[in-house]
Amino acid sequence: MTNPFREHLVSRNSAEPCTVVIFGATGDLTHRKLIPALYNLAVDGELPPGVRIVGFARRDKSDQVFREGLEEVNRKVSRSGHDDAIWSSFVGNIEYHRSEFGDLDGYKSLADRLDEIDRERGGKGNRLFYIASAPDFFDDILDYLKQAGLNACRDGCWSRVIVEKPFGTDLATAQHLNEVVNRTFEEKDTYRIDHYLGKETAQNLMVLRFANAIFEPLWNSRYIEQVQITCSENLGMEGGRGGYYDTAGALRDMVQNHLLQLLSLVAMEPPTDLSADGVRDEKVKVLRSLRQWDTPEKVAENVVRGQYVAGSIDGRGVPGYREEDRVDPESMTEAYVALRLRIDVWRWSGVPFYIRMGKRLPKKATEISVHFKEAPDVLFSALPGGTTGSNVLVIRIQPDEGISLRMVSKLPGTNLRLEPVKMDFHYSTSFGKGSPEAYERLLLDAMAGDATLFARRDEVEEAWRFIDHIQRAWHASDNPPPMTEFVAGSWGPKEADDLLKADGHAWRRL
Ligand code: BG6
Repeated sequence: MTNPFREHLVSRNSAEPCTVVIFGATGDLTHRKLIPALYNLAVDGELPPGVRIVGFARRDKSDQVFREGLEEVNRKVSRSGHDDAIWSSFVGNIEYHRSEFGDLDGYKSLADRLDEIDRERGGKGNRLFYIASAPDFFDDILDYLKQAGLNACRDGCWSRVIVEKPFGTDLATAQHLNEVVNRTFEEKDTYRIDHYLGKETAQNLMVLRFANAIFEPLWNSRYIEQVQITCSENLGMEGGRGGYYDTAGALRDMVQNHLLQLLSLVAMEPPTDLSADGVRDEKVKVLRSLRQWDTPEKVAENVVRGQYVAGSIDGRGVPGYREEDRVDPESMTEAYVALRLRIDVWRWSGVPFYIRMGKRLPKKATEISVHFKEAPDVLFSALPGGTTGSNVLVIRIQPDEGISLRMVSKLPGTNLRLEPVKMDFHYSTSFGKGSPEAYERLLLDAMAGDATLFARRDEVEEAWRFIDHIQRAWHASDNPPPMTEFVAGSWGPKEADDLLKADGHAWRRL
């Protein structure tokens, strides 16, 4: 019998030579993530030969100054360090194109320049447009790309677009943006990036579930009691981030995209194959099956929002959320959110999924924990200490990527005593090498035409549909659910603990 997983792996396309055009090339994302990712692909010999990079932005800069700025940051952040010899051959492929985002002439001259690059280098005309600008410019960039004919593919070549987050601020704006994108690029050429999907352990979720025969038979409401997804960050609003964050909040900044994507990977049915649509068809069903918290009462019952007040992290005093740089002193934006979710499908009937995300928690860690039902309480309950709890499978997304399984074992000795123990797998020790950065994998996939790890139009819209109800309740003029408080450096508000306590559960201690 043929194995669809194997066939897909064998036939996975490879990245093709192209010119990558980055809109918003003077910004943080380009310097800290995109260029270091491309550089590290070059270091590992994975960047296809003939890749050329054009930075498109408004500021006046020469190629030389642009390259120097990129080098300065790459030296600080590159995963594999900075090798002068590799950098100097890599940077020779980068140039700068100055233009306003709203000036058609800038796009026409870009088109001429891209043709020239292809002539100089014998390129086929493949183009990858990466929109990393502020969202206000997304519409203009897409419209002008079309007007300049840059979305059109000539014989045998392709033109694709990667769109960065935020992908809208609610369902209506996401739908609008989808219209605009799909006026210019077909859906198959549209890559909505969610860097969590490029993380090694997120990719491993499907392998864990579907390549190991022991988990899938247990992966349902008969054996699983509850599932938790935690994303804890110790940073606050450093580096001027408060300005953006205060308009977004934890729910829109991370739950709508990254954490609902993780949820769909945990809860989805096995896909029929590993094609981009095969996988995304199953993920979107999870989002579509989310029970909607569509009244203020349901939001109050299932969602907790919070802000931190001044506290300390690692012995260092930190300000409260409303005292952070560029945050409104009367802000009603949440820097913490905890939710109970219900997925209304047979597999998950009665199983609560909990998500929590917060800034200024004690440490940076993202993990998924699957809590299995306890063994029947018949044999060991009379022992001192009882049966000591259930099996928990923990998937550590970051840091210290890996998977552990909590089990119960007999304590060595002449008495019968039970103790929890952990079977632990660490990527770093098992494979002896670090994982690539998410952006490396995702850029390569876009060059290969593989959209599996990118969000499809309907996924983004379904996620917004769920989030919009909560936002609406929070912003209602009449009796909105309260904003809770917690001390920075603690594990979040008491109300988030109560949310789980009501179901007889507790947050896992990280
Ligand atoms: C971004 C959010 O998408 O993801 C940030 O805007 C967040 O607020 C970041 O800090 C987290 O990414 P990572 O990879 O560091 O977990």
